Amino acid sequence: MLGNFSYSNPTKLYFGKDALDGLNEELPKYGKNVLLVYGGGSIKKNGIYDKVIKILKDNNKVVFEDAGVMPNPTSDKLNEGIERAKKAKADLILAVGGGSVCDYAKAVSVSVNCNDDAWDKYYIRFEDVTCDIIPVGCVLTMVGTGSEMNGGSVITNHEQKLKIGHVFGDKVFPKFSVLNPEFTLTLPKYQMVSGIYDIMSHILEQYFSGEDDNTSDYIAEGLLRSLIHSANIAVENPSDYEARSNIMWTATWALNTLIAQGKSTDWMVHMLGQSVGAYTDATHGMTLSAVSMPYYRYILPYGMAKFARYAVNVWGVNPDGKSQEQVANEGLDAMEKWMRKIGLVMNLTDLGVKEDMIEGIVKGTFVMDGGYKVLNADEIRQIIIKSC
Ligand code: NZQ
Ligand code: ZN
Repeated sequence: MLGNFSYSNPTKLYFGKDALDGLNEELPKYGKNVLLVYGGGSIKKNGIYDKVIKILKDNNKVVFEDAGVMPNPTSDKLNEGIERAKKAKADLILAVGGGSVCDYAKAVSVSVNCNDDAWDKYYIRFEDVTCDIIPVGCVLTMVGTGSEMNGGSVITNHEQKLKIGHVFGDKVFPKFSVLNPEFTLTLPKYQMVSGIYDIMSHILEQYFSGEDDNTSDYIAEGLLRSLIHSANIAVENPSDYEARSNIMWTATWALNTLIAQGKSTDWMVHMLGQSVGAYTDATHGMTLSAVSMPYYRYILPYGMAKFARYAVNVWGVNPDGKSQEQVANEGLDAMEKWMRKIGLVMNLTDLGVKEDMIEGIVKGTFVMDGGYKVLNADEIRQIIIKSC
């Protein structure tokens, strides 16, 4: 394990079919005004809204609503939410939805008591939180981002064509999250599969880096094996509770800071995907799947030993009598075959990327330096073009 670190995660999780009952334990801890934040209406169709409202009323809460949080929430919507939270004098923000709703709730929570422009402060200048935070709780309905147990909050600014994530410290993590796998069963298959790849990508971003022997990498391999196994079942039968519940739990542990401990991390697939997202507004996980294979094939020579280990330990490639390079490539071949099988989008053209967007996407891609290769603009351009 590299370096020194302290570790704790403040989010309390309630998991399982009765997880929503956890709200009865949590709500009494906060004042009476609750800002209920949700998306475009799926929670009204599947009955989750009614269940949550009943528990809020039973706990004598005054409920204010902020609906219409779109996938890939925008800076304009964030400004609207800040005003709503101010008017409500919210004591708690309850996010009911997927990563977008949960990320948005965190962005509102750190901005309500702050006079600066939230986009400029947190997403351009990357400043720390210097004002009082409104606590956030989350009822998760879409699996993938890990937002239910982390400080991540990704906001898109359409005018500036930028999609940027701020990873806040543990004061901004949800105080509690409700994870009922049954709440995810109404997700369209496209969203489920996209979420599955988001989980895989989170694990790989933290796995493909470093040459040290590290417990976090062994945990990552276990999570990956569980994810692939359960995803195969869920794609065949989306209502399989066992598989969906495993995927939900894997998603949380894939990005709740655990497997990043004591090692360097990459995050270039996300940087590429986010820049694509700023131009296309495409579904997050699909932006990642579309750029992943060209990216991994490009960096493979720089991290050959780890790619070979990945092939053997995750994809079951038999290394006997083969060169390291051959093993490593067979691993990526197996991954690509699986990605196609579960129905992921494998190129940027299918997400609406046009030739005249490429330069902007290259420019909007943040370069990270924790992986096997620090990319320059030419290399980013090559990867984007290969992904089209
Ligand atoms: O808006 P509604 O009507 O609720 O519909 C949503 C939305 O259209 C629908 N949905 C959610 N739960 C459903 C459901 N439909 C039917 N039944 C249900 N139970 O699914 C659609 C997508 O939801 P969204 O919240 O956008 O998806 P996701 O959870 O993938 O979140 C994506 C956002 O999270 C960011 C992404 O960049 C993107 O902005 N990320 C956040 C991270 C973090 N906090 O650490 C890390 C990730 O890498 C990611 O960047
Ligand atoms: Zn992601």
